[in-house]
Amino acid sequence: MSMDNPDTHPDFARGGGQAYRGYEKTGVLPEDPELTHTDPGTPMGDLMRRFWQPVCLSEELTDVPRAIRILGEDLVAFRDKSGRVGVLHRHCAHRGASLEYGIIQETGIRCCYHGFHWDVDGTLLDAPGEPDGGERMSRTVGQGAYPAFERYGMVFAYMGGYDQMPKFPEWEFFHTYDDLEFASYSNIYPCNWLQVFDNIPDQIHTSQLHSPHMRVIGDDDDGGYPTTAFNPVFAQLPVMEYASVRDDTAMIFSAGRRVGRERVWVRLNDVILPNLTLHPHTAEDGREARYFHRVYMARWYVPIDDENSIVFGLRMFGDSIDPYGTGDKSKCGYDKADFLDGQTGERPREVAQRLPGDWDAVTSQRRIARHAMENPTKEDVGVYMNRKNLRMAVRGENPSMAQTAVHARANAGRRNYVYTNNTVLDIPVREGDDDALVREVCKKVLEIVVAGDAYEGVERDAFIDGALRDYERSFAAAAAAE
Ligand code: FES
Ligand SMILES: [Fe+2]
Repeated sequence: MSMDNPDTHPDFARGGGQAYRGYEKTGVLPEDPELTHTDPGTPMGDLMRRFWQPVCLSEELTDVPRAIRILGEDLVAFRDKSGRVGVLHRHCAHRGASLEYGIIQETGIRCCYHGFHWDVDGTLLDAPGEPDGGERMSRTVGQGAYPAFERYGMVFAYMGGYDQMPKFPEWEFFHTYDDLEFASYSNIYPCNWLQVFDNIPDQIHTSQLHSPHMRVIGDDDDGGYPTTAFNPVFAQLPVMEYASVRDDTAMIFSAGRRVGRERVWVRLNDVILPNLTLHPHTAEDGREARYFHRVYMARWYVPIDDENSIVFGLRMFGDSIDPYGTGDKSKCGYDKADFLDGQTGERPREVAQRLPGDWDAVTSQRRIARHAMENPTKEDVGVYMNRKNLRMAVRGENPSMAQTAVHARANAGRRNYVYTNNTVLDIPVREGDDDALVREVCKKVLEIVVAGDAYEGVERDAFIDGALRDYERSFAAAAAAE
C-alpha cells in the first residue's frame, strides 16, 4: 500500500473477523517435546536408541577420527587400521580430551593427551601413566562405546542399552533386484528431525512446492523452466489415501494419478517408525506399465540434537530399479544427493527464494516446528496419523512397538517386508467420477500388496505381480463385455 499523499491515512478497515490481528497473534506456543526432544533420557530419544541408526557415511572415515553429534551426544567415529568401526563418546574417560584428536591404531584409538588406548568397544587397552599399563584400571574404567558397522557406505550404530540390542534388520529392499547397486548420501538440516520426517507423510506438498508454478519468474526469464518438480505428471494433484499398517508400526500413503486417458499410476511410500521412509522411483511418470516396482531410495531422519538433524539416504541404482537411467551415483555423498534442487542449504538465498525446495520450506518452519500453532487441513491427515503412531510408541501404548515385538523378524533372521512401490495399470477414464475410480485403484493396490504379507520371498513377488495383473485385466474384461 503506497502512500503518495502523506496527508491521507489509507483505509485499513477490517475486512473480516481475522483481518489485521497481528498484535493478537504474537504469542509463540511451546513445542511438542514428547516427539521432538531426543537427548539421553527423553522418551523419544529412548525410542530412537532402540533401533540401529545411521550416524555417518563411510566416506567420512579417513585417517583421522570424525567428530559427530547424534541424539544430542558428542561422539567420534573412526575405522581402525584393522577395519573395525568405532563409535565412542567424544571426551576421553581419562580427563576429557576430545578423541577427535586421537591417533587411530591397528586396534582402536589412542587419546592424544596422555595416550590412553581404547578399543572400539571402549575397553582400556593401555594407560601409559600406570605401572601395570592400566590393566587394573581397565576393570572399572571404560570409554563410552556403541556397537557400529558399515553397510552400503553408511555407518550404522546401536546407541541403546546393550542388553536390548536387536539384530540389524535385513530389509528386503536390500535385495529386490539382482543388478541393484547402492550409494549413500546425507543432507544436513538446521532444524528438528521431526519436521524433516513430517515432510514425507505430508505428500500433498509435492503438488505445490514441487510444482512448476511455485517459482518466481523474473523480467529477464529466458523461458527456460527450472523447477523443483520431478516431472509434470508428478506435479499433478494426486488422489491420496492413507493407512496405518503393520499394527501401527508404520503408515503408508498411496498417491493416485491419472496418466493420459488410459492409465493410472499409483505410488506407495512406507513411513516406518521411528524414523525411516521408503520411496519408489522418483522419476516415474506413468509412461510404461509397471507392476510393484520397488524401493528406489530409503531415508533415515536422525537427530543431531533438538535443533539440528541429518537425513541419511540410501539410493538404489541399476537398470531394474532405474529403467530411465536418471540416477547419478557421483552426485551422492556428504550433504549432497542426486535428485531435485533444493535438498540442501548450499544454494544462495536469492536462488532459494525464487525456487524454493524441501530444505528451504522445512528448515523455515522454525528451528523446532510448533505443532500447537498449526491449523491442519484434511490433506494433513498423513502427518497427523504418523505423529499419532509415534506418540503411541513413545508412550509404550503400542505392544507391537515393544523391543522384542518390533525386532522379532530381524532377530529371527527373517527379512522385513515393505510396501513401497510404483504401479502403473491400464485402466481407462471413468467418465463422471474418475477421481473415485483412481481412489479405488489406490486402495486395491494397497490391499494386494498387504495381502502379500502371507507369502515370503519370490512367492510374495509372484503373488503381488499376479494379483495386480488380474486386477488390470478385470477392467479390459469389463470393457469387452460392454
Ligand atoms: S585425556 Fe585422554 S588420555 Fe588423558
Ligand atoms: Fe518434497
